Amino acid sequence: MVARVNTVAFQGVDVQPVDVQVQISNGLPAFTIVGLPDKAVAESKERVRAALHALGLALPAKRLTVNLAPADVSKEGSHYDLPIALGLLAAMGVIPKEELEGCVVLGELSLDASIRPVAGILPAAVHAGANDNRLICPEGCGGEAAWAGDLDILAPRDLLQLINHIKGTQVLGRPEARLNTMDEKAVPDLADVKGQETAKRALEIAAAGGHNLLMIGPPGSGKSMLASCLPGILPPLSPKEALEVSMVHSLAGTLPEGGLLKQRPFRDPHHSASQPALVGGGHRVKPGEISLAHNGVLFLDELPEFARATLESMRQPLETGTAMIARANSHVTYPARYQLIAAMNPCRCGHLGDPDLECTKAPRCGGDYQSKISGPLMDRIDLQVDVPPVQVSDLDAPKGECSADVAARVAAARAIQAARFDALGVGNTMRVNAHSDTNVLEQIAPMEEDAKALLNKSMEAAKLSARGYYRILRVARTIADLAGGAEILKKHHIAESLGYRRISFN
Ligand SMILES: Nc1ncnc2c1ncn2[C@@H]1O[C@H](COP(=O)(O)OP(=O)(O)OP(=O)(O)O)[C@@H](O)[C@H]1O
Ligand SMILES: [Mg+2]
Repeated sequence: MVARVNTVAFQGVDVQPVDVQVQISNGLPAFTIVGLPDKAVAESKERVRAALHALGLALPAKRLTVNLAPADVSKEGSHYDLPIALGLLAAMGVIPKEELEGCVVLGELSLDASIRPVAGILPAAVHAGANDNRLICPEGCGGEAAWAGDLDILAPRDLLQLINHIKGTQVLGRPEARLNTMDEKAVPDLADVKGQETAKRALEIAAAGGHNLLMIGPPGSGKSMLASCLPGILPPLSPKEALEVSMVHSLAGTLPEGGLLKQRPFRDPHHSASQPALVGGGHRVKPGEISLAHNGVLFLDELPEFARATLESMRQPLETGTAMIARANSHVTYPARYQLIAAMNPCRCGHLGDPDLECTKAPRCGGDYQSKISGPLMDRIDLQVDVPPVQVSDLDAPKGECSADVAARVAAARAIQAARFDALGVGNTMRVNAHSDTNVLEQIAPMEEDAKALLNKSMEAAKLSARGYYRILRVARTIADLAGGAEILKKHHIAESLGYRRISFN
């Protein structure tokens, strides 16, 4: 007789049902797990054996076979412990088999039979809810699972509690949906940044329209400081966005309190990050930084110091909003619609263009250093601003506008954009101007005659690419939205937008 328990395997954010079949048959005592288990799954039999032992149960001295179907999909992770243990308990007659029907089970077992949190509970819960199934998950993941809808959820602390619930001797309540409180880090205020008015303006435009931004300037001028102010001016995630990005963090195991993220992600990987760390991949095809920054910001400080191949691998996701990772045995897609914010020095010494400080190799060293950023990557950056050295007079000046005031303008501009996209019926896929495709952009960004003439002339003079043309138009649309949302773009909107693309690389 075979006992069956449902669980899942993850392929990116896609969830594939897995049927755990357990058979106890006569023969020499053995415990075998088949169905392409990886090392963590194969080791599961030791944890299951020990957990049952902790409850005073011994595995029968018979032939125990566990099959994870479909057998040709590789099974990775430690969440198969609990379904295997429940399957064994049902096959041994400790719990009734019918109680496990229509139930998706995930959880890792400790040797003392407690159930440890595992990655990927949120997508698994969404999958269970969509198929009218119940979910059994670890207690530590209950707050995360409860966001998936009004499906039945059991989040036991240990195996004994779960068995008691199934047998009706103890009743477990549904866990409460929890919000992640760990992500409320204190962020610097824009008021603390002295001078740098152009860079502040560019940061506000980037925040309002979701545009990519590159800041170039000498050491100590405030580039990293400006970027770290960005979370303070971005609006919180909408419930739909929060669910999307929390799915990715759930799979990566980076939802620290087990609750949903509510602040926009701000990821700032060090420049030594490898390609799989940035775009995703590795042994288990985990999401990379660009996917963890989905619906938020990816900040790359000291841009030219990143490995060239690593930077180039971000080109396609920047256009498509997804990271597609192909391996010989798996093909996985993660969402990756992020806003790229980058900072760099103009050359290795950092003072190119300053006659008093630049080194003897100038200007050649600047060309060498800046050419580490390829033309195509540069073309994808909408706003490219200089961040000059701070003057003494700036440091003595009174404090400027605080982040809360800028955040209010950004929120108003984002509301105008969202309403416009909703009216066009594309609100599902587009929320800010940076998301608009060329078809939609042409509808939402009509220009006055002289504005169009200026853009056309500049395109010819500066040899802009078609992508550059549309990116300038998107930024101009955002500039107009920050100023109240005039429907037709004026010449000064285009002129300001053009001003942010003036850096030409050798
Ligand atoms: N515009 C500014 N207003 C106030 N403080 C500033 C400003 N610029 C720099 N500082 C001070 O200098 C410190 C270093 O600045 P920051 O790290 O932002 O420089 P950076 O431009 O990123 O330099 P690097 O190119 O070396 O990375 C900040 O923590 C802050 O204390
Ligand atoms: Mg810096």
